[in-house]
Amino acid sequence: MIGIFDSGYGGLTILKEIREHLPEYDYIYLGDNARAPYGTRSFECIYHYTLDAVHYLQQQGCTLIILACNTASAKALRTIQQHDIDPEKVRVLGVIRPTVEVVPHLTRSGHVGVLATPGTVASESYLIELEKQDSLQRYQGALQYKQLVVSQLACPMWVPLIEAGEHESEGARYFIRKYVREIIGRDPQIDTLLLGCTHYPLIQSAIEAELAAAGHSTCKTIAQGEIVAQSLKDYLRRHPEIEQRLQKGGECTYLTTDDSDKFADSATLFLGSPVGAKHVEY
Ligand code: DGL
Repeated sequence: MIGIFDSGYGGLTILKEIREHLPEYDYIYLGDNARAPYGTRSFECIYHYTLDAVHYLQQQGCTLIILACNTASAKALRTIQQHDIDPEKVRVLGVIRPTVEVVPHLTRSGHVGVLATPGTVASESYLIELEKQDSLQRYQGALQYKQLVVSQLACPMWVPLIEAGEHESEGARYFIRKYVREIIGRDPQIDTLLLGCTHYPLIQSAIEAELAAAGHSTCKTIAQGEIVAQSLKDYLRRHPEIEQRLQKGGECTYLTTDDSDKFADSATLFLGSPVGAKHVEY
């Protein structure tokens, strides 16, 4: 089974794309809604919450787990991979690495903006990983060389608004305008704006409307779902030993650490088709 984990609803934007590209597998989606948002919490806290979820998903039979959460990928993934799991039994992957692999190919100006949670921004994971891509391209040859200029901005109000179902409200519009104007103000040459939090695709059209209103309609917003799905497909092709262990029934189970009815309602809204959910504690 493939486990997809997020602090709340955001990972559903990744799950949706993964299931479109890889419909044959069985999935468990786990949202730790009771403890969301993660983005403003300490390293220790995010690490322990994420590790709890990984252990739980493993107990449920997941042999491949995707941290469909940038904050958890930034703050917990490496430690978990290095110290907490047996890669013979379970593999844990994140969403940052696959994203940074494609970003340099999307920008023309070389000016990239990253919008993310305070935790992801403070970790500097995007800056560190993009810098590696930068030198990788340089290494591969002058023709592919592209020096990136990366600006990042923490958007602490967006996840709480989305988790509360308030992302289409007047208040949300205010904070969307505020953060979009701020990042564009930092570097007006940004032509590629990466939504570095899996919750943000839920406000992607509002972000694009704000970019257009600010005279930056040519600036593209990049959501991670499709990118992560393609990368997972490629990973399974390269690792047949892992692919063979996965169950293929095309089913998905939805689990939440908070209220199951509330989760099912919101998930149905986000996924566009009705789902049921179960409350779990671990
Ligand atoms: N959706 C998550 C991310 O990609 C976490 C948001 C949060 O819980 O703050 O960062």
